[in-house]
Amino acid sequence: MIFKHRIKTLQTSTSAWNRFIYISAKQLWSCFCIIINAELRNCFLTKVRFGQAYYQRAIFTAFNRYPSLFRACADYLNSIEHPKILSFGCSTGEEVFSIGQYLPHATIMGIDINLWCLKQCWKRNHNSNYTFAHRFSKEFEWASNFDAIFCLAVFQRTENRTNKNENRSVFLFEKFESDITLLDKKIKPNGLLIIDHSDFNFEETCVASAYKPLKSFEQNKCHRNRPVFDRHNLKIANEHENYRVFVKMRTS
Ligand SMILES: C[S@@+](CC[C@H](N)C(=O)[O-])C[C@H]1O[C@@H](n2cnc3c(N)ncnc32)[C@H](O)[C@@H]1O
Repeated sequence: MIFKHRIKTLQTSTSAWNRFIYISAKQLWSCFCIIINAELRNCFLTKVRFGQAYYQRAIFTAFNRYPSLFRACADYLNSIEHPKILSFGCSTGEEVFSIGQYLPHATIMGIDINLWCLKQCWKRNHNSNYTFAHRFSKEFEWASNFDAIFCLAVFQRTENRTNKNENRSVFLFEKFESDITLLDKKIKPNGLLIIDHSDFNFEETCVASAYKPLKSFEQNKCHRNRPVFDRHNLKIANEHENYRVFVKMRTS
């Protein structure tokens, strides 16, 4: 601890040599953590391998994290015997397992780009109605006809919220729009797109005109205390209101 504290004090030292020691120690420590910790290692490797196609790098998730969204979706799909659901950016699987509790007869596919997350999903899953696959897998390429697609806390980068002076998004609108277009092709007419905690507005994408916010969900529009960026990747506001659940009215 004392050693760590002493190294930290070098960060603000007036001596360039001390600051160099601080930066080198920090880099060495990061390398050490990446080598010994499988989760960090995989995050790093995913970054190297997929670059700009890797959006939110934090993998935080929780069981029943979005009860009102899951309930609204279950209510809307209640007339479908075996609904087909996709959780895009499923992390370690809690979202899939939670949706399964609201829709016990659903088949649910979880997709993630991070292999470490997928390994946790495969280990935890004991339900043959749930499958997990990689973002760039054939299983995902071929998957279609979903009644609902959830993309929660995936189309974002933490840096866009924490770096207060940065007016340009580090995550590109063209990537967001191209994935939304891909997901749109996988949703059935009258199916749902559920999107929240995003750096961009779904309404700005080229497929949005084929969708309408789900009227029956009273808390659909909500206030978010986080920045939002436009299609040129420029910050347009530090907080905003957005709809979260959209119905696909026609094929775009
Ligand atoms: C913060 S977690 C969100 C988990 C869950 N959806 C939730 O809201 O609780 C973001 C997840 O998105 C995944 N992710 C990032 N870029 C992705 C991409 N291009 N395709 C699929 N998943 C991605 C990350 O690996 C991470 O597991």
